[in-house]
Amino acid sequence: MSREFSFAVSRRSLLLAGAGLALTPQLRSRPARADASGDIRITVAPGRAGLVGPDHPQTEVWAYGGTVPGPVVRLRQGEPARIVVENRLDEDTTVHWHGIRLPNAMDGVPGLTQPTIKPGGTFTYEFTPPDAGTFWYHPHADSLQQLGRGLAGAVIVEERTPVPIDRDVLWLLSDWRLTSKAQIAAGFGNAMEAAMSGRIGNVVTLNGAASSEEPVRAGERVRLRLVNGALARIMALRFEGHRPVIVAIDGQPCEPHEPEGGRIPLGPAMRVDVVLDMQGEPGRRYAVVDDFYDGHSYELTKLAYGGEPRLQPRVLDAALDLPRNPLPEPDLASAERHELLLEGGMMGGMKGGMGGGPPWAINGMSMTGDGQAGMAPALTFQRGHSVVLRLRNDTAWWHPMHLHGHSFRVLSGNGVPAPHRRWRDTVLMAPKDTIEIAFVADNPGDWMLHCHVMDHQVAGMMTVLRVA
Ligand code: C2O
Ligand code: CU
Repeated sequence: MSREFSFAVSRRSLLLAGAGLALTPQLRSRPARADASGDIRITVAPGRAGLVGPDHPQTEVWAYGGTVPGPVVRLRQGEPARIVVENRLDEDTTVHWHGIRLPNAMDGVPGLTQPTIKPGGTFTYEFTPPDAGTFWYHPHADSLQQLGRGLAGAVIVEERTPVPIDRDVLWLLSDWRLTSKAQIAAGFGNAMEAAMSGRIGNVVTLNGAASSEEPVRAGERVRLRLVNGALARIMALRFEGHRPVIVAIDGQPCEPHEPEGGRIPLGPAMRVDVVLDMQGEPGRRYAVVDDFYDGHSYELTKLAYGGEPRLQPRVLDAALDLPRNPLPEPDLASAERHELLLEGGMMGGMKGGMGGGPPWAINGMSMTGDGQAGMAPALTFQRGHSVVLRLRNDTAWWHPMHLHGHSFRVLSGNGVPAPHRRWRDTVLMAPKDTIEIAFVADNPGDWMLHCHVMDHQVAGMMTVLRVA
């Protein structure tokens, strides 16, 4: 019920991304270029993007490297990277490398881990990604507006040995609230929305453009990297006529498995890598549908088979298991155990009350904004200790909860053990869910734990965990 209410506000049924959009061939998800010294340079600046096709004006956006989404940052597992970010916006920014287990000083949280990058300033992020997989980058300053105006890009950390597939494909999905002139609607940080499902938009783009079809070839095996870069929209993708196999979640390989009910859930900030065998008929088209919200399903795109003859399966009998990343296994017997209670929101006894305090809280505390200096940690762990956290969602809303600096293993949901060796950095909690996660607190520093519905984060659903 709460769901319907939130939707009435925002979903005018994808007013622009409806049927009949021509496929606009354009350069999408270009790789980031390294300079002579090997540094990757990314400029953050206002720009324009053709989000909804040639029949509509271009949209004024904020962009990394001039494109929406930003250039794909391709790194190699275990090899040092230097990424120089230059801020040409009129406001401060930072970059958070979501899901990458990096040193605290490179985590991009304003005040807490670094000073913001001032207009005209630069900051050099240096880290060595320990894990191969699909990650992403986005601002952690004025996050609601900066992400909502287009600042997001994928990070692909390549395995040391190539994975046997025919094609590696990225779909970075973004959700926009556009006006009828295809401009980004004002009203970021609406208090009513913040206490409900957040700023859900009316146009979903795939690699920066509404998509009517994505070309595929019969017989090929594709590794499809799905990234939900939306502010608030939860997605659940179905591939008509196909049987995707999930091989990694939030960058971390899992036991290959077919999604429950054929539906791949993707909360904001979550990634899923699937192996997709293109077993359809040459010349045919198959819908890819997002049906997360009851009564509001829509077609994200179509898999469009070309007329070429079926590719001979070269790799079909290869195992789908990706090489595991070097994650420390938590010791459940000796782990310290803590509970974090998520509270507030509409129909959940708004924490600040209707009187105007922040609507959300974790363990009774509301940290608001994007991170700041001097935030007292809710919990402090000794470095190297195993930790079990029980997250209890005492609200009427969904929350994709993200922990910085660590990947965690999901132990159980509502008392039921979680299958498939699932590691994550963001876990989607349904209303009233209780989820247990475990990890080794091996990365020293102050780390954010927050909801990745940006309106929820900035309105109090955020806290800090310290690894001392
Ligand atoms: Cu992707 Cu603190 O977030
Ligand atoms: Cu939330």
